[in-house]
Amino acid sequence: MKVAIGSDHAGYLMKENIKKHLESKNIEVVDLGAQSEESVDYPEFGKKVGEAVTSEPYDFGVVVCGTGIGISIAANKVKGVRAALVYDTNTAKLAKEHNNANVLAIGGRTTTFEDAKDIIDAYMDAKFEERHQKRIDIITKLEEEK
Ligand code: RB5
Repeated sequence: MKVAIGSDHAGYLMKENIKKHLESKNIEVVDLGAQSEESVDYPEFGKKVGEAVTSEPYDFGVVVCGTGIGISIAANKVKGVRAALVYDTNTAKLAKEHNNANVLAIGGRTTTFEDAKDIIDAYMDAKFEERHQKRIDIITKLEEEK
């Protein structure tokens, strides 16, 4: 399994913790920055992770900013990205089962490290339910209308 991860400064520490958690499960993690808590702009990192996930063989992406909101909005501007801002294990599970989310967005200032690990695990354990494919197709078609 291969995961792309990125954050801004406010998500940096959370990103580092999520990276460790994934690596402890022998998952390959490609870190697209930021590399410190020095102030940066979250859209750059949402874009990087979004582009990686839609063009290279990643299983999914993780983006982190202070709330997860800004970086999820940015990632969702990349064609083919379905970034879900999740805040507990139930939304993480549903993001996979119903929305086939390919990017998880987490708030570094709104979620604890312990909860983030459970959130990631709940997403990875879940399976997309094919009965929802029709709605994913509608979302994909919306991208063509741009
Ligand atoms: C940065 O201060 C903060 O605005 C950013 O990390 C994020 O929360 C935006 O949505």
